[in-house]
Amino acid sequence: MSQRKGSDGNVRPSYHRLTVKEVREETAEARSFVLVPERFVSPDDPASRPTADDSTSAPNALVENFRITLDGEDHTVPIAAGETLLQAALAAGIDAPYSCTEGHCGTCMSWLRNGDVSMTSTQALSKRDIERGWVLACQSRPSSPAPIWLDFDI
Ligand code: FES
Repeated sequence: MSQRKGSDGNVRPSYHRLTVKEVREETAEARSFVLVPERFVSPDDPASRPTADDSTSAPNALVENFRITLDGEDHTVPIAAGETLLQAALAAGIDAPYSCTEGHCGTCMSWLRNGDVSMTSTQALSKRDIERGWVLACQSRPSSPAPIWLDFDI
């Protein structure tokens, strides 16, 4: 692959028609790369937190707090109406795992040991996951007054 260095010192590709030999070399070079999964974490965006008049959130606080098990420790986390379990956990200073916060990646996948939640998106879960009690904390909001226990250690 032809490359050139940009003014910032980073290597940038030069676009030109490749020969068959160059394609073979590129392919061989590409096979030598190892993909390493990376966990992306974004800082909590205060603008993304639901407000009291958020029309997509639950109108009433069904539970005032819930239990989280993470890294061998149990926490009692206060939760406001409309908040997801992940938002409440992060607001309480708990280092719960997450990445996309949109239900796509599954990083926040956890087991609902007790309680009822509704999820806006379940894209990262299979039907079987859901049947077994797995939830996405970033998409889960309390849906009954039953005490919630969310376990990240399973
Ligand atoms: S953070 Fe990606 S699915 Fe919840």
